[in-house]
Amino acid sequence: MSRLQEPSLAYGAAAFHNKDDAISGFLKDSLMSHSTYHPTHKRGRISMNDMISLLMNHRSVRKYTDRPVSQEQLEAIVSAAQMASSSSNVQAYSVVAVTDPALKNQLADYAGSQAYIRECPVFLVWCADLSRLKKAVDTHAPETKSYEGAVENFVVATVDVALAAQNAAVAAESLDLGIVYIGGIRNQIEQVSEALGLPDYVYPVFGMCVGYPDPQHGAGLRPRLPMEAVLHMNGYHVEQNERGVEAYDETSVRYITERTGGQRTSSWSQQMADKLTAPSRLQLKDFLERKGFLQE
Ligand SMILES: Cc1cc2nc3c(=O)[nH]c(=O)nc-3n(C[C@H](O)[C@H](O)[C@H](O)COP(=O)(O)O)c2cc1C
Repeated sequence: MSRLQEPSLAYGAAAFHNKDDAISGFLKDSLMSHSTYHPTHKRGRISMNDMISLLMNHRSVRKYTDRPVSQEQLEAIVSAAQMASSSSNVQAYSVVAVTDPALKNQLADYAGSQAYIRECPVFLVWCADLSRLKKAVDTHAPETKSYEGAVENFVVATVDVALAAQNAAVAAESLDLGIVYIGGIRNQIEQVSEALGLPDYVYPVFGMCVGYPDPQHGAGLRPRLPMEAVLHMNGYHVEQNERGVEAYDETSVRYITERTGGQRTSSWSQQMADKLTAPSRLQLKDFLERKGFLQE
């Protein structure tokens, strides 16, 4: 049975504290009941349709079977990606599909030896791509100053590729495939870029493993922030955020303790503090500038 036909909600965001918060519909009704992470499924006023059910069942997959992904599946996934909205229809992205085992191995090494890059049948490298726009200027307005290096166009291209990739992720999951995004390819972005032959005005934003999930290693759903932290009605409410994070810290401690058999017990806030105080991929800015981005 495909995952599209099999609605089941688990985890979900923790409950709202104030039940009178002006949020209606399915999400309030159903997520209110998800303050623990035991699977439950409750329909609210907006019924759980197949699409929402698919989205609510997302989990990153890090173990794959040997079953191949066909060219037809790959093309269906990329077609769905291409129908994502795109800023002014710039379509400022390209995707490199890597199936060659030697090249996947190389990329896995560059991405911090993440084994699932070697093991998945298809590894997609999603790239922000302003090269077609630059070419259009060279062809149609060669004497005119152009702004491919502007921060705005960097944002446009990066958002475009993320929207397309997420469409691809959802399409893949609808075909019973699993995915995991791989930001690790930015660890050695220069080497990744060279290995794939990426020209100027193109940079690899993230990778994505695609393949059939190994049923022996069923991944669980990961709890998200309570909705009150992320949904603010008619203006931003700092106190909602604080309450939400407090509640989520408790949920995340329980989740991580259970998932790691007690080996890790840190709260979400602690994990975020650790993340933000560690230098991360500081070479990125220079690389992007060399590729023609961020040159204002
Ligand atoms: C842009 C991006 C980069 C990511 N990079 C990695 C990665 O390099 N390795 C990995 O194992 N997971 C990676 N992830 C997966 C996240 O860890 C995962 O989505 C998050 O923990 C939520 O879990 P879930 O996807 O199972 O719901 C990445 C996710 C995103 C969106």
